Amino acid sequence: MNTSSKRYPEASGSANRVRLSAPDHELVTLVRDPAAGYTGIIAVHSTALGPAVGGTRLWRYATLDDAVADALRLSRGMSFKNALAGLPFGGGKAVIAGPAPTEPAAREALMRAHGRAIEAVGGRFVTGEDVGTTVHDMEVIASQTAHVAGRAGGVGDPSPFTARGVVLAMEAAAALRWGTADLAGRRVAIQGLGHVGMRLAELLQARGARLLVADVAAERVGRAVSELGAEAVGSAEVLAAECDILAPCALGGVLDQYSILGLRAGLVCGAANNQLADAGAGDLLHARGVAYVPDYVANAGGVISGSVDIAGWDRARMESSLAAIGDTVRAVFTLADDAAIPTWRAADQLAEQRLSAAPDQRSS
Ligand code: NAI
Repeated sequence: MNTSSKRYPEASGSANRVRLSAPDHELVTLVRDPAAGYTGIIAVHSTALGPAVGGTRLWRYATLDDAVADALRLSRGMSFKNALAGLPFGGGKAVIAGPAPTEPAAREALMRAHGRAIEAVGGRFVTGEDVGTTVHDMEVIASQTAHVAGRAGGVGDPSPFTARGVVLAMEAAAALRWGTADLAGRRVAIQGLGHVGMRLAELLQARGARLLVADVAAERVGRAVSELGAEAVGSAEVLAAECDILAPCALGGVLDQYSILGLRAGLVCGAANNQLADAGAGDLLHARGVAYVPDYVANAGGVISGSVDIAGWDRARMESSLAAIGDTVRAVFTLADDAAIPTWRAADQLAEQRLSAAPDQRSS
C-alpha cells in the first residue's frame, strides 16, 4: 500500500496519530498502530445534530489516499442520512485499511487498536458494523471504548430494519408515481440477495409483488426462486430487466451513464449505498423520467435501529422514526417537483438545510 496521503496534508500530530485537514470535515484522524498491523481513519463530518454515527469499514484499498477518500465520502453521506432520518446524530465513518488478518488473534488485536483510536476521539464518533466488520468485531472494539453500537444483546442486525425502510420508501414513491402505494402485482427486480435483499424479497412477496432476482451467489437465487416464487435474472441483465421497480441491493455505483440508458424500470428504490456513479447519473435518471428514491433516504432503517443502542430510544420511538421514511420520500419528491430538480439534489438540499439549521455544537 502507498502510505502517503498526498491530497490530505497532515496538519498536526505525532508519528502514529496525525490529524488530516479536509475541507467540510470537523475532524479526520489517521491512526497507525504498527504492533497491531493497524492503519485506520476516523472521519467526523459533522456533529451539528449530535455525535457522529457511522460504521467501521474494513477494506483492502489500493492506496491510503483511496482509504481516506472513502472515509470522507462515506462520513458526509452519513451526515445527510442521519439528518434526513431525523436522528440526533451527526455523520462520521471509520475505515480500517485491509487486508483483514486471517488469524482470529490478529484480527482481535486490530479491532482493539481501532477501539483505542475511537476512544481517543472522545465520544464525538460512535461506530457500528459496516462492510467487512462483524458483531464480534464490535464486541472487541467495546473492550476499549463505550462508543460502539450493534453489539450482541442490543437491537442486533440492522438489515431487517433496512429492508423494512426500503419497502416503506417504495410504497411512498409508488403512490407518488402511480397513484397507489399497493405493490401487489408490481414487478420488482432486486439486485443482490444478501442480508437486506433477501429480507426485502420476503417482504415484497408477502405484499403480492412479482419478483425478479439476481445475485452472483447462485444458491441465494435458488432460494428466492424455490421459496418465494421469484424469477431468476442474470446479474448482468438485472439492471435492464423489464420491471416497474428496480431495487439495487448489492453494490454502489451501479447507476451510470450506460446502465441508465438501458433501464426499463419507472422507479429505482433500493438499499445499496452510493447507487449513483456520479452527479451526472442522477441528472440523467431525472431527464429520462425515472423516479429515484435517493439511497440514503431509502436505506436509513439500519441506522434508525441504532437509535435504541446509541440514543437510548425505546422501540416505539424507533418504529415511528422508521415509519417516517415514507414522509421523507414525500418531502424529497415534493421539493424536486416544485423546484424542477432531480430527487437526489432535493434530498441533499433538505439535508443541508437541517444541518445548517441545527445549533452549532462543533468544536475544533
Ligand atoms: P450483503 O453483503 O449481505 O449482500 C450483498 C449481496 O449482493 C450478496 O448476496 C452478494 O453476493 C450480492 N452481489 C454482489 N455483487 C453482485 C452483483 N454484481 N450482482 C448481483 N449481486 C451481487 O450486504 P447487505 O448488508 O445486504 O447490504 C446490501 C447493500 O445495502 C450494500 O450496498 C450496503 O452498503 C447497503 N446497506 C446495508 C445496510 C444494512 O443494514 N445491512 C444499511 C444501509 C445500506
